[in-house]
Amino acid sequence: MSSTDDDVVLSMQDVEVHFEQSTGFLDMFSEPDTVNAVDGVSLDIHENEVIALVGESGCGKTTLGKTAIGLQRPTGGSVEYRGQDIWEAKDGRGEIEIPHRDIRQALQIIHQDPGSALNPNRKVLTILESPLKKWQKHLSKPDRIARILGMLERVGMAPPDDYAYRYPHQLSGGEKQRVALIRALLMNPDLILADEAISALDVSLRIEMMDLLHELQAQFNTSFLFISHDFSNARYITEKVGGRIGVMYLGELVEIGSAKEIAENPQHPYTKALRWATPDFQSIGRTDQMPIRKIDIPDPVNPPSGCRFHTRCPEAHETCATTAPDTFEVTETQSTRCFRVLEDHEYWESPEITDESESESEEAGAGADDATSESEAAGD
Ligand SMILES: Nc1ncnc2c1ncn2[C@@H]1O[C@H](COP(=O)(O)OP(=O)(O)OP(=O)(O)O)[C@@H](O)[C@H]1O
Ligand code: SF4
Ligand SMILES: [Mg+2]
Repeated sequence: MSSTDDDVVLSMQDVEVHFEQSTGFLDMFSEPDTVNAVDGVSLDIHENEVIALVGESGCGKTTLGKTAIGLQRPTGGSVEYRGQDIWEAKDGRGEIEIPHRDIRQALQIIHQDPGSALNPNRKVLTILESPLKKWQKHLSKPDRIARILGMLERVGMAPPDDYAYRYPHQLSGGEKQRVALIRALLMNPDLILADEAISALDVSLRIEMMDLLHELQAQFNTSFLFISHDFSNARYITEKVGGRIGVMYLGELVEIGSAKEIAENPQHPYTKALRWATPDFQSIGRTDQMPIRKIDIPDPVNPPSGCRFHTRCPEAHETCATTAPDTFEVTETQSTRCFRVLEDHEYWESPEITDESESESEEAGAGADDATSESEAAGD
């Protein structure tokens, strides 16, 4: 896909989302914890572009997705829709070129569980009429109905006048998800956030749904931000349409590139570990040992110093524990947050971190603590 700055629909610059987390009654007497859900993420989404975000549970995918479509206010950085700061438009600050109402219409979401997003007491026709009534006020009732029946047919729900008069409980999971997709598309959006939108479907239906998304994306010229914890699905949804895959780790976007680059030539050790753990990719450069040192995911309340992945990274050197890597360009489309892509960096001279070296330094640290507490106990 060729793209220019002019066709940027959504731009996030250095976005940060921190949540204050209270842990109960005792918190009245102490500072609340801060969850670093998203940190320092910059990402432009272009017209007609499909971007998939992958990463393990809790890494910040949903928070970033919601921030992109204006459902989550960032605690730092900026989010712009076609050059208009979303939150300035919402708060009525500064010179507003695009009203917030238009931004809301342009940025839509389909959820993981379509059942909960569809009112169980309303027929499909009524569910789908309500966005049209709100956002396309000029349409007459017969026009609205014709548009809805046309969409139902287009997504394979035929005969449409049968489906239009069903309640959500009379639909399968895949059909509910199609209704949710139509509802989002009827708003004529520029960008749809699909957060684990196909995860609950059977494997065979997932492919069908992703093919449908491709078809509708081309027909409606909509961009998609597709969130998935499944690397194979992320590749399928992006590769066919020249899209990109972004990899998140502990609140940071650690690598992004074309589907082919991320699947076949990942540069970040975490992307390599994700690929290793994905059954579909296991023939590509597979080693027997999982390329990760520890399974435990660190706590986003207290993320590791330096590179956040250094506590698990099999390639970590001591520099990684103290210095956070910037995002480095690998190709025109691929960039990664890892020193290893720089030929000339102090990383290469600094000693490796291994499980043994780490436990030795932990023991030495514990010894130092003991010494302090002993001297404190002695009244020094
Ligand atoms: N409203 C909130 N208040 C406090 N912490 C939150 C809130 N929302 C999310 N978090 C925390 O922020 C981090 C990122 O959560 P998020 O839901 O974005 O992750 P995710 O990558 O979407 O995970 P999953 O794959 O499980 O859906 C987690 O540690 C989560 O507990
Ligand atoms: S910067 Fe260091 S710890 Fe981080 S991913 Fe690269 S090699 Fe691993
Ligand atoms: Mg999520």
